[in-house]
Amino acid sequence: MTLIIAHRGSSGTHPENTLPAFAEAVRAGADCIELDVHFTKDKHLVVIHDESVERTTNGKGLVRDLTLEEIKELDAGSWFAPKYKATKISTLQEVLNLLLQMQYRGILNIELKTDKYHYPEIEAAVSEVVLSRDWPFSHWYSSFNLESLRIMHELEPEAQLDLVLKKSRATVEAALELEFIEGIHPSHNWLQENLELVKTYPKPIRPWSVNLYLSMIECMNLKVDGMFTDFPEKANRVKSRLRR
Ligand code: G3P
Ligand code: MG
Repeated sequence: MTLIIAHRGSSGTHPENTLPAFAEAVRAGADCIELDVHFTKDKHLVVIHDESVERTTNGKGLVRDLTLEEIKELDAGSWFAPKYKATKISTLQEVLNLLLQMQYRGILNIELKTDKYHYPEIEAAVSEVVLSRDWPFSHWYSSFNLESLRIMHELEPEAQLDLVLKKSRATVEAALELEFIEGIHPSHNWLQENLELVKTYPKPIRPWSVNLYLSMIECMNLKVDGMFTDFPEKANRVKSRLRR
């Protein structure tokens, strides 16, 4: 069955990439939880989607130009709803700790956000935190940046590595040639424009982001390996209904 992957946590119902969004994804029974990771100026791993803090906080500037202390002063919840005003940007360690505390037993998909800036040595820093202890959940890595995945493959040869893409046919083909790439994460638009290829493509396909009922049903009927959604609870309801 198609895995339900909570995109940036339960980002349709809670502020994306924050602890409330991840806690909700666990509660909603997501099979997998995705997050995006960047490096601060002082080399701390923080969980946020954009290179800049402007869209999802009350701050200004690029993550790479701010220290963790400066980032921790920001409100990362009010933009979504006033009741989340105390919500902060979390470090990767804090998210792992939350999932541990909740005894999450699914998969954690860590996306290395290195396609705009390839933060030097971010892969080693991520791997060090992830391998620092045993967790009740397993992990995958993904990135738009093939170079980051190559580095991760050196660091963790056994880890599952997935290539993220919007629409590029060349990338879809390249992923087939590269043995260390387990699967692809294309945009949902790409999926809809390539339905025949989807049926025969030999590697797992996990499109993003699938938020409408009909799109969820389409993905499950196509038996894609997984689908990223901002609404994991809704996706699980659809999945249960289709099972019956
Ligand atoms: O990996 C799927 C998805 O997270 C890629 O897009 O921009 O939401 O990180 P984005
Ligand atoms: Mg992502």
